[in-house]
Formats: sequence, C-alpha cells, structure tokens
Amino acid sequence: MFLKSIFLSAIVIILNLEVCVLLKLKQVVILSRHNVRTPLSKNLCQLSPKPWPKWKEKSGYLTAKGALLEGFMGEYFVAWLKNEGILLDGCPLEENFYVYANTQQRTLASAKSFVTNGFPNCTVTVHNANKTDPIFNPYIHNSSSVFIQQALDKMNVKLKALHLNTSYEILENILDYMKSENCIKNKQCDLVTDVNKPMIKTGTKPNILGPLKLSKSVVDSFLMENYEGFNADTVAWGALTEHKWNTVMELSHSYHNIIFNSTDIAKDLSEPLIKYLSKIFLNNSTNIILIMGHDANIYTVLKAMGFKAYELKDQYEKAPVGGKIVFQKWVDNMTRDFLKVDYVYQCTQQMRDGIKLTLDNPPSFTRLELSACKMDPNGFCLWEDFVKLLNSL
Ligand SMILES: *[C@@H]1O[C@H](CO)[C@@H](O)[C@H](O)[C@H]1NC(C)=O
Ligand SMILES: *[C@@H]1O[C@H](CO)[C@@H](O)[C@H](O)[C@H]1NC(C)=O
Ligand SMILES: *[C@@H]1O[C@H](CO)[C@@H](O)[C@H](O)[C@H]1NC(C)=O
Ligand SMILES: *[C@@H]1O[C@H](CO)[C@@H](O)[C@H](O)[C@H]1NC(C)=O
Ligand SMILES: *[C@@H]1O[C@H](CO)[C@@H](O)[C@H](O)[C@H]1NC(C)=O
Ligand SMILES: *[C@@H]1O[C@H](CO)[C@@H](O)[C@H](O)[C@H]1NC(C)=O
Ligand SMILES: *[C@@H]1O[C@H](CO)[C@@H](O)[C@H](O)[C@H]1NC(C)=O
Ligand SMILES: *[C@@H]1O[C@H](CO)[C@@H](O)[C@H](O)[C@H]1NC(C)=O
Repeated sequence: MFLKSIFLSAIVIILNLEVCVLLKLKQVVILSRHNVRTPLSKNLCQLSPKPWPKWKEKSGYLTAKGALLEGFMGEYFVAWLKNEGILLDGCPLEENFYVYANTQQRTLASAKSFVTNGFPNCTVTVHNANKTDPIFNPYIHNSSSVFIQQALDKMNVKLKALHLNTSYEILENILDYMKSENCIKNKQCDLVTDVNKPMIKTGTKPNILGPLKLSKSVVDSFLMENYEGFNADTVAWGALTEHKWNTVMELSHSYHNIIFNSTDIAKDLSEPLIKYLSKIFLNNSTNIILIMGHDANIYTVLKAMGFKAYELKDQYEKAPVGGKIVFQKWVDNMTRDFLKVDYVYQCTQQMRDGIKLTLDNPPSFTRLELSACKMDPNGFCLWEDFVKLLNSL
C-alpha cells in the first residue's frame, strides 16, 4: 500500500513534466453510439394532437444528417490518430484498424460513414454478425428469481426517489396531453400520477411501462429533431427554452438511470461486451478498434467498469448520439503502460449546425475516471490497475 502510493506520486510528478517524458499512443479502443437516427417510438402520434415532424428515413434508421455528422467524426479521428503517430498515411490494414458494428441499420451505416469519410479512397470492412448480435443486445442473462427480484427492487427504489412533477407538467403542456389520443381513448391523461411499472425478464431488455417511458420517447424525438436541424419552431413545436430543455431532460436521464445505472443490472447486461473488450485489452495487438453500438452499451459498460459520474458540457444527453468512449493505452520510454479514457462527443450546437471537425475545431473531450484506477492530473492511470479491474469483472 505504502510502496504503491509512492509509485503513484512518482508518476504524477513525472507526468506533470510532460516535456521530459515522451508518452506514445499504443492502442485505442473506441466504443461508440450510432449517430442521429429517426425516432424509434411508433406511438408518438397518440401522445399529442399536434403534427410531428416528418422524417425521410424509416423509423430507427440513421438519417442523412447523422451520416454527415459521423463522417465528420471519422475524418477527425483519422486526423487525430495520424497526428498521434498510431495511424500511418494510406489505407489501414485490419491489424491496424478494425471495425465492428451491431447488425442494425443505424450502427452499420454509422460505422460505414465513419470509415468512408475517414479513409476516403480505401475499402475498410465493417465487421458484423449476420443475426441479432448478443455482444450488443442489452438483455438480461441471469434467470435466477433472486436476481430478478433484486433488480426490480433497485428499480423501484429509484422510481420512488424521483422528483419529476415539474418535468412531467412541462411536457404535458408542450404535448397538449389532455387532447391526445392516449388521454381521450386510453384514459391516460396525467403523466404525474399514472403508474410506472418496472419490468425485468430474462432474455429481454429492462423496461418501465408507463409515463416515464412515454416521456423519454418524446424527449428523444425532440433531441433528434434538434440535431437534425429542423426549424426552431418545429423542434418540440418551438416550446423549449434552455431551462425547459434541462427540465424535460430529467425524464430521459431518469429513465436510463433506472434501467441501466445499477451495478448488478449493468454487469449482467454488458457481460458479453465486457468480455469482448477485455479480450482486446488483455490480449490483442490491433492498434485501433472501432465498436459501433448503442447508448445501452455505453451506459452499461461505464457502470459495470465502475466509472465515476461525469458531466458532458454543451450536451443535453448523457450518452449522446455519435459520442465515443475512447480507451487509450499509452506507453512511456521506460515501457510502462498507462490508461487514459475520454468521452469524445459533438456538442449539441456542433451537431445542429453540422460543423465539420478538424484538429483545430475538435469535438469535446471529457476525461473519464475509473474508481479502480487512480488517475493523475493528466488523466493517466496505471495499466496494471486496469488489468486487475478487468480480471475482476
Ligand atoms: C526517457 O526520456 C527522458 C526525456 O527524453 C530521458 O531523460 C530519460 O533518460 C528517458 N528514459 C529512458 C529509460 O530512456
Ligand atoms: C482520393 O482520390 C481522389 C481521386 O483519385 C483524389 O482526388 C483525392 O485526393 C484522394 N483523397 C485522399 C485523401 O487521398
Ligand atoms: C452467418 O450465418 C451463417 C448461417 O447461419 C453462418 O454459417 C455464418 O458463420 C455466419 N457468419 C457470420 C460472420 O457470423
Ligand atoms: C445470478 O444472480 C444471482 C443473484 O444475484 C447470483 O448469485 C448469481 O451468481 C447470478 N448468476 C450468474 C450466472 O451471474
Ligand atoms: C407530485 O405530484 C403528486 C401527484 O399530484 C403529489 O402527490 C406529490 O406530492 C408531488 N410531489 C411534489 C414533490 O410536489
Ligand atoms: C449513475 O448513478 C450515479 C450514482 O450512483 C450518478 O452519480 C451518475 O450520474 C449516474 N449516471 C448516469 C449516466 O445516469
Ligand atoms: C492471446 O491470443 C492468442 C492469439 O489469438 C492466443 O493464441 C493466446 O492463447 C491468447 N492468450 C491468452 C492468455 O488468452
Ligand atoms: C484481435 O481482435 C480482432 C477483432 O476482434 C480479431 O480480428 C483478431 O483476430 C484479434 N487478434 C488476435 C491476435 O487475437
């Protein structure tokens, strides 16, 4: 313990004097969420009498804007990785740059857009399974009734602790919910008092039936409308001020917090993906791996690995579309390895305005910290501590 703390403070001192020690980037694993897609929910029209914006693409598909924004990410990352010396000019070999995406259209198309813009004159294969891929599919694996009851209890405790009255009321006003089909036909007229019912079933994704989920779907549509660049008076029918945005976002944050942000649930859901990641970190020499998945993958991996809470500046979402957890393995000239992790994402305004990313106009980098890997002021922690963590999962 004593020796270790001396070692750590030595690193802090060494790494603070960056001019004296050269650190080189050795491996990068990018865990990404697909970019802007059309709304997933099929019943939005039952939640408001107002007309919803029309989308060109099918439900749940990557939009042309999403492809553009992910292309900017591809161009930026290739420039950054070349600048760091881990990627050479020309077309990459698979042992240098490997791409793996979930089988859904929005993840495949996001990965394609990343590589075709990052490597314009190259053929880079996007690997994927040819059926539902368990590595990305966030379903409950544990079939024990004890596990299911514990998970439900956790969700109920979080549900009871919510204070969302104001958020629900704002949303009801924006939707004109009393005049919605859901109120008139289904007699569900009050987001504040209608009941939320958590659902945990082996083989399915955790779920919450009721107003929280309906609200989350509505807010998701507002977010996508905003990124897509719809007119200001079309996005949420022009009803969202900055303050109201933050208030209704609580509904979305709460929903994701309840279904994904408990350690046992997150570990169960992300187990196959954590195994895949561990195999790469522990025993794979591929320089760069891009993994294109979903918010569920990001939330559950962050929780399962024990990352500390974080804030993403200039972003309403906690796992924004197109956002990437970037795991970096650095080596110093004494061949000691270090880990650094950043959340790299486009700010809301960069997305809405469709701003090209360059080394001079980069996406946002937010440092992420693992509880089990003590970080120095420059964001580095000991690779061997990360290895211990991975072996314990
Ligand atoms: C590492 O680099 C620094 C600065 O370039 C140098 O002073 C030091 O001797 C190097 N250490 C080794 C083991 O090469
Ligand atoms: C790609 O190919 C086109 C046409 O051959 C060429 O104009 C362009 O400079 C190339 N781009 C890169 C990044 O090599
Ligand atoms: C695709 O499916 C076929 C038939 O089910 C299987 O033989 C093949 O290995 C699969 N390919 C991949 C890449 O999973
Ligand atoms: C399932 O959950 C129970 C209760 O939490 C736990 O004891 C058991 O180890 C879990 N099984 C697996 C395969 O993870
Ligand atoms: C929220 O609304 C419910 C139902 O109207 C009410 O019972 C509860 O006291 C309210 N909570 C707060 C914090 O105002
Ligand atoms: C997850 O829960 C922790 C508290 O346990 C909280 O600080 C953090 O903000 C939550 N993260 C997300 C993404 O909801
Ligand atoms: C590491 O990967 C190589 C090549 O796939 C394999 O042969 C070896 O058994 C692996 N080692 C461990 C410890 O998993
Ligand atoms: C490293 O991982 C990639 C992607 O999963 C895989 O194609 C490759 O075979 C692995 N290499 C080794 C040596 O295990």
